[in-house]
Amino acid sequence: MPTPVASYSAALDLADEAATRSFAARLASYLEPGDLIALEGDLGAGKSTLARALLRALGVEGEIPSPTFTLIQHYDTAYLPVAHVDLYRIEDDGEIEELGLEDALDFGALLVEWPARLGRGFEANRVKGRLDISLTLDDATEDPAVEKRKLAATGHGGWAAKLERIVA
Ligand SMILES: Nc1ncnc2c1ncn2[C@@H]1O[C@H](COP(=O)(O)OP(=O)(O)OP(=O)(O)O)[C@@H](O)[C@H]1O
Ligand SMILES: [Mg+2]
Repeated sequence: MPTPVASYSAALDLADEAATRSFAARLASYLEPGDLIALEGDLGAGKSTLARALLRALGVEGEIPSPTFTLIQHYDTAYLPVAHVDLYRIEDDGEIEELGLEDALDFGALLVEWPARLGRGFEANRVKGRLDISLTLDDATEDPAVEKRKLAATGHGGWAAKLERIVA
């Protein structure tokens, strides 16, 4: 029997915001309860834009505010509950525990901006599938007004095959 691939990485150029939205829509169709989608990248790289596009693709209507101040926003989409989280303002592991991220994973998926701050307050073993996404501005310009972004992604476990299909 072939050994399942443990992880799969891909890089792509997102020419403009429409390209980011189209990637997010493909990603949305593979999202399952227990999934953690980690969104890394500098301020303005496009993490919230990608998260918002993903929620739209799942049928969320109305406002999708950035969770910068609320830290977490919950959505009951037509397919599964999704929590959109922004950990930029997190200062210690205790604050992470209070968010109840693990409970949200039991029935839904997590979209997490600034995932490096998850730290020890988060029970990573409750995650069933993980996709790491890193967004960067074009190296040559570093100008957020330029729409081009680079996306690097690594899918772990079940997300290895899913990512391979998404970028095929
Ligand atoms: N290709 C692109 N993909 C995503 N966003 C883009 C793209 N081109 C331009 N943008 C713009 O870049 C900005 C990205 O802002 P966004 O709030 O998504 O960033 P963020 O990574 O979530 O930042 P923060 O760390 O502050 O939360 C938006 O104004 C968006 O319209
Ligand atoms: Mg954001």
